[in-house]
Amino acid sequence: MPRLKILRYNSETGETPRYDQHAVEAEKGLTVLEALLRIKDEVDGSLAVRYSCKSAICGSCAVTINDQNRLACQTQLSTLGKVVRVEPLAGYSIIKDLVVDMGPFWEQMRRILPYFITKSEDPERERLQTPKERKRIDEATWCIQCGACSSSCPVMWTDERYIGPAAFVKAWRFVGDSRDEGAEERLARINSEFGVWRCHTIFRCVDSCPKKINPTVAIESLRRALISRPFRKKVALVARP
Ligand code: F3S
Repeated sequence: MPRLKILRYNSETGETPRYDQHAVEAEKGLTVLEALLRIKDEVDGSLAVRYSCKSAICGSCAVTINDQNRLACQTQLSTLGKVVRVEPLAGYSIIKDLVVDMGPFWEQMRRILPYFITKSEDPERERLQTPKERKRIDEATWCIQCGACSSSCPVMWTDERYIGPAAFVKAWRFVGDSRDEGAEERLARINSEFGVWRCHTIFRCVDSCPKKINPTVAIESLRRALISRPFRKKVALVARP
């Protein structure tokens, strides 16, 4: 029977963090989230866990399981060995037990303007896009904003001003979108010492994404967009009659 070793901490009392251990029957199909909720229901109701959809869609149950960031609702307990260490996401302050303060994560997201920007006149019907244009941003649209990638990035741990991989993926989702017209504003925001140039290609973000998104592809695409931007402008100027 696997033992769950769960980090416990309460920021309100400031008690010394500790690990509580509970043995849980790992029947086939039982997820780490279900095991945590079983402990909460049957053993210790004070355990704090954040979750919502239980379907790997909302991204709220991201935690560190045996040193790897994962979605608790997507991870089968029986695949993890005899001792399963469950800890809150690193890089964010702990509110209680497995619940961290995601405020800085959403602040980073806000910095890249995570919504469609259009300046041209609205078309009569929807803004169209070819399958080829859509494919360019396909991977970036899979992001559920769980924060697993940003939490795993050592640059983030040392400087919370770094915009971080999750927000870069979101930025590319719009910069690469043929219908969006806000690339200039967005690129200006990530063209800084806390933007895409700060990434040291450590690749921990790639290993931690539960949706198999590669944030470094988004980072590279944004860098390319930044580098080619002045060139494109010049070409346009030269081409003008
Ligand atoms: Fe961090 Fe990923 Fe870059 S882990 S340093 S954002 S490659």
